[in-house]
Amino acid sequence: MSFSKASVRDAEVAGRRVLLRADLNVPLADGEVADEMRIRAALPTIELLRERGAALVVASHLGRPGGKRDESLSLAPVAKRLGELLGIEVKMATGVIEDSVDLDCGALGPGDVLLLENTRFEAGETENDPRLAEALATLADIYVNDAFGAAHRAHASTEGVAHQLPAYAGLLLEKEMNELTAVVESPRKPLVVILGGSKVSDKIDVIDRFLEIADQILIGGAMCFSFFRAQGVSTGDSLVEEKGIELAAEALERAQDSACELRLPVDLVLGESFDADTERRETDCVEVPDGWMGLDIGAKTAAVYAKAIAAAGTVLWNGPLGAFEMEPFAAGTRTVAEAVAAAPGTTVIGGGDSVAALRKFGLDDEVDWLSTGGGASLELLEGKALPGVEALMDAEDSNDA
Ligand code: 3PG
Repeated sequence: MSFSKASVRDAEVAGRRVLLRADLNVPLADGEVADEMRIRAALPTIELLRERGAALVVASHLGRPGGKRDESLSLAPVAKRLGELLGIEVKMATGVIEDSVDLDCGALGPGDVLLLENTRFEAGETENDPRLAEALATLADIYVNDAFGAAHRAHASTEGVAHQLPAYAGLLLEKEMNELTAVVESPRKPLVVILGGSKVSDKIDVIDRFLEIADQILIGGAMCFSFFRAQGVSTGDSLVEEKGIELAAEALERAQDSACELRLPVDLVLGESFDADTERRETDCVEVPDGWMGLDIGAKTAAVYAKAIAAAGTVLWNGPLGAFEMEPFAAGTRTVAEAVAAAPGTTVIGGGDSVAALRKFGLDDEVDWLSTGGGASLELLEGKALPGVEALMDAEDSNDA
């Protein structure tokens, strides 16, 4: 099913004020933007709106300030970087809905861009308080949601306000929806899904969904230890999510009746502690002795996974295979990243740490789609509706807006 929400491309924006919700939730370091992927991803919609003569009021959250002002989570460094990337001055508002913001909005001309302060400085944001949604709606004539990374949150700036104004999907949100939905609905086969990360509970719904759709699911990361425990294999001092053991046992059982092959590592790299300088040992099995912890998949597993990836029509990857941020335990994730980068099939990266891994290895330009959403892409892949998308106008109704 193709994306059916009204597109920003079809919005009449010339001479009008647009409230653009973007996901500019980026890491900061020493008061500067430390990773600008999400800012760059927001540029096409911002540029389209400016070219068409709209005045832009941009809204985003940053971190989790808990409904209170927290200067360390001000969006000011983002306004600076956004302005540099656009080659204009992006004005930073002093708040989200204060009177001064009204004045700033009133002064905007076509092509101007104002960035509101962190929407989560307002307690009503995460509570989806209709009063905040209404106040946000007074700032503009039209709402555009391009914040795919926050679309799984039913918050005032992602969901509530969409009921108050003609509400359109931005270009990034539309592209994310199309790319990720295609993996589920019309993948070129075989479909190979690589799932890593530390918790089975985070990924169990994705595992369940893909046991129905995929040809192979390749498991790595610390979550494999919940699977090993479910199989009665000793995991030593490895990080094990206890509540994941039963979930893993159930998934293994469901996999028996599925045409999809659920694969676990066959060898590991161990360390004595979670530390780059720790003693390191390679094993040719998956038993972990006491005093050791599994910190990466082994070379044999990585090679088997790489072969499956090379033969895939579509590859979906979410979650690192080991503690890749520490060089002695990065090889498994690197081998898989290289295989994904070289794969002839369609390659889609489901956000979060796997994107960070590809970038660390300099391979982020070698894949077909890098999602800007972590939690949002997982929920979409699980088959859940995203509130920030649901609330937008349907394409067929947008002519009346
Ligand atoms: C993310 O980083 O995944 C999004 O910006 C959503 O952030 P949140 O998990 O704090 O809602």
